Amino acid sequence: MSDSAVDREIKICCATFYESEAIRMLLGESFHPGGLALTYHLGEVLGLNEADHVLDVACGRGVSAVHLAKSFSCHITGADYSHQNIDVARNHAAEQGVSHLVGFRQGDAEGLPFHDRTFGAVISECSFCTFPNKEIAAEEMARVVCKNGRIGFTDMTVNGALPDEIRSMLSWVACVTGAGTPENYTRILEKAGFTDFVVENQKDWLLEMVRAVRRRLLAIELAVGLGKLDLGDLDVNEGKRLAQNAVELIYDGTLGYTLIAGRRA
Ligand SMILES: C[S@@+](CC[C@H](N)C(=O)[O-])C[C@H]1O[C@@H](n2cnc3c(N)ncnc32)[C@H](O)[C@@H]1O
Repeated sequence: MSDSAVDREIKICCATFYESEAIRMLLGESFHPGGLALTYHLGEVLGLNEADHVLDVACGRGVSAVHLAKSFSCHITGADYSHQNIDVARNHAAEQGVSHLVGFRQGDAEGLPFHDRTFGAVISECSFCTFPNKEIAAEEMARVVCKNGRIGFTDMTVNGALPDEIRSMLSWVACVTGAGTPENYTRILEKAGFTDFVVENQKDWLLEMVRAVRRRLLAIELAVGLGKLDLGDLDVNEGKRLAQNAVELIYDGTLGYTLIAGRRA
């Protein structure tokens, strides 16, 4: 596990950020582009079924885990750095009546609290880009999945140089710590022991998410104008401008969202 003071700070900052109500206002319940539709597609690509025990690394509030269990009848364990997210996830699974299929555990992607070869498949959504040490996270996923077990993740990709303000916006609003190209990600996964990759461009979902964030910023602006919301130092206009810049970077291919699936060699 990479646990230098700086790396620990990044993980805590990211976990705390995704616990906040503000992020729920901006992103909704599912904290990744494509929401549950893309989660379902990931489940289909991996061919999940009732015999599977799946690990969701950085599961957030457990929304995807519950959805996959309901959709594919698989068993699923979610792990997240945030204790608070884990509590919310457990309650969500209980409310949805799937606690017999779904469990959650606090843990670090770079030091997963599971035995070797525990799972038939491992997924991670919009989280790999936030891990300070992606090589170690990939090795951990390879360790806990069975031989021939599947990996599937969807994540932010960056191809080329980002303007400074967008880079700092991404690190601030999405905790992105060095998103790479799809080729970077497959190289890291291959080195960790995965093979037979399927790579799908899912950038339309990222566009859709940024547009949804812009719409929500307009609603937030209205609520601030009516005195119903106090955002402190947050500048909604700046947020709208950066969102517009992000749309342009998605169109020109600099920012993207990619699904990568493979199997443990
Ligand atoms: C963008 S959210 C994605 C959550 C969830 N996968 C989803 O799509 O709704 C990123 C999540 O990564 C978690 N996280 C960040 N660093 C982590 C780490 N090192 N180990 C485990 N979880 C981590 C955060 O707590 C947060 O829940």
